[in-house]
Amino acid sequence: MAGHIPVMSSEVMEWLAVRPDGFYWDGTFGRGGHSRSILDSLSQQGRLWATDRDEAAQAEAGRINDRRFTFKRADLLAALDLLPSGMDGFLWDLGVSTPQLTTPQRGFSFQENGPLDMRMDQSEGETAGELINRLQEKELADLIYTFGEERLSRRIARMICEARKQDSQWTTHRLAEICTRAYPRRHHRIHPATRTFQALRIAVNDELNQIETVLPLALNRLNPSGRAVVISFHSLEDRIVKHTFKAFVAHGFRILTKRPLQANEDERAVNAASRSAKLRAIERGAP
Ligand SMILES: C[S@@+](CC[C@H](N)C(=O)[O-])C[C@H]1O[C@@H](n2cnc3c(N)ncnc32)[C@H](O)[C@@H]1O
Repeated sequence: MAGHIPVMSSEVMEWLAVRPDGFYWDGTFGRGGHSRSILDSLSQQGRLWATDRDEAAQAEAGRINDRRFTFKRADLLAALDLLPSGMDGFLWDLGVSTPQLTTPQRGFSFQENGPLDMRMDQSEGETAGELINRLQEKELADLIYTFGEERLSRRIARMICEARKQDSQWTTHRLAEICTRAYPRRHHRIHPATRTFQALRIAVNDELNQIETVLPLALNRLNPSGRAVVISFHSLEDRIVKHTFKAFVAHGFRILTKRPLQANEDERAVNAASRSAKLRAIERGAP
């Protein structure tokens, strides 16, 4: 199984500007690359809490034996209830980790054949396969259009609903094959299943709702001069981050990145995942 290369690490550390004695939250621990960099910048008085909803992330966090470090398995919303009150900064590196993508059993990728699952937390909730069996054709088309910005959403939804009459068992390759058939024969810039898979993943994990609900609450928990850094991987996520940050300017916050930062050429060349990353940072005003 592949590991996960943390995206835009030096930019994260530059914009988080860790205070050695501070308290930090990494809300998307993944394989802990960013968390380890934050720990390296903390003094013995500093503390880091990391959270993630993924069981494999929890197992990885168990390898960090450091009394300044605490891990809790939680989604972003649940994490807020667990965290101590104020914080000097937090990082969200959204989306999925490389091991999630490349493990066939997780069902996130059309490159790997596996059950159509897509849950970041496999202990609860509906899988993507169950979701597409439950929805009406129109609901499915709307979901694929809204969360995937897929212009062929109606055709894809119709074909999925036809196929499920024959067989309600879903694999990633079966769905990818339907998306490919739905597209006219020509050269595609991206794989025909990309947008449909994105839409289902967002819906299964309630991703946009989590960001929209929790980001304002988390910003309000920052101490004076505290900072937030958020990396998003598609325009729907980035739009929420951008608008939330803008709204907080009226509450004494300062946007540190006028435009979102992107990975440099060197990083893009070696880490394909970094190519769609957009980093935004904001700082709470001093008292
Ligand atoms: C891109 S990876 C993070 C990688 C990490 N920064 C590293 O250096 O290894 C995204 C992680 O965020 C988690 N995640 C995404 N959305 C989440 C949410 N709403 N609540 C909790 N965890 C979430 C995923 O399970 C995944 O492990």
